[in-house]
Amino acid sequence: MTDTFQFNLLATDGKARRGTVSMPRGEIRTPAFMPVGTVGTVKAMYLDQVRDLGADIILGNTYHLMLRPGPERVARLGGLHELIRWPYPILTDSGGFQVMSLSGLRKLDEQGVTFKSHIDGSSHYMSPERSIEIQGLLDSDIQMQLDECVRLPATPDEIERAMEMSLRWADRCKTAFGDQPGKAMFGIVQGGDVPALRVRSAEALAGLNLKGYAVGGLAVGEPQAVMLDMLDITLPALPHDKPRYLMGVGTPDDMLKSVARGIDMFDCVMPTRAGRHGLAFTRRGRVNLKNARHAEDRRPLDDQSSCPAARDYSRAYLHHLIRADESLGGMLLTWNNLSYYQDLMKGIRNAIEQGRFQSFMEETQEEWARGDL
Ligand code: GUN
Repeated sequence: MTDTFQFNLLATDGKARRGTVSMPRGEIRTPAFMPVGTVGTVKAMYLDQVRDLGADIILGNTYHLMLRPGPERVARLGGLHELIRWPYPILTDSGGFQVMSLSGLRKLDEQGVTFKSHIDGSSHYMSPERSIEIQGLLDSDIQMQLDECVRLPATPDEIERAMEMSLRWADRCKTAFGDQPGKAMFGIVQGGDVPALRVRSAEALAGLNLKGYAVGGLAVGEPQAVMLDMLDITLPALPHDKPRYLMGVGTPDDMLKSVARGIDMFDCVMPTRAGRHGLAFTRRGRVNLKNARHAEDRRPLDDQSSCPAARDYSRAYLHHLIRADESLGGMLLTWNNLSYYQDLMKGIRNAIEQGRFQSFMEETQEEWARGDL
């Protein structure tokens, strides 16, 4: 029987790819940006709005949801889609990365990781098998292997040890996931900034014949050029006919340059987090609404935007809301930013289909460089 989880490449333009990832809950148009819904909410947004902006899939986090409200409880409540009222695909990160970045006191060995909750200090355990079990209880459509992501800079020995263990964990996650038509478990390439380790990781994961592959361990403090070099090295070692997801990336510029190298999927807290802090992404680059120059500016952010938040409210009002720490300020700027990100992905997809991705990228970058309106 053919799997109901399918990746179809519709067009390529250079190394850039236009495709669809389809599964029973819906179809992801790639290249895709996946808004982050860490604890079961895309912060400051109604999910209806997120959908209307063009999101085909959102992200959830195993680490956060296992601590609160707990995976067994989510399952009793009908699963994550039912609970949060998002009937479309959901991808869940495995927890490895968040354990490293958020939790206190960790003990990590071959079996798994013990950590303390950032919420109440309680002790928890996660193994590759338990991560997949939790992601199953959440009823996640695209599940991620448990991995260990080391912070850069790190020694080659440390990077290699974590990468090799992540490979063994990929194998265990594959076994734990088993055969689930319509769903997928993605492996995660690690290897830090060491080219040979990146290739080793990608080739070994490719040998597991997974339904998709992520590139992890990037955008963790290294310069953009290093990240792009790692993509240049890694992507040729991954199968052409499977989706490729760059985890935790990034800025609009990171996404253009990564699509140019063959990435299909992205997620990042940047548009939502930056929005709550007063930073707007626009076709003319970044605008900090906290800045005093907006205090009496009656113009909107961008009257050509597709988003009402950018068209219908004055910069003066947005500035006031952000300065006064009012929720509506974060809501409007998050709306603007997710709209900008989704419109950018739509522009990228159209450009690839029409064989003009390179010129689309250059024109978009030139427009950013012109500066704010
Ligand atoms: N999010 C951003 N980077 C990573 C990574 O390397 N691993 C996981 N699991 N999640 C990520």
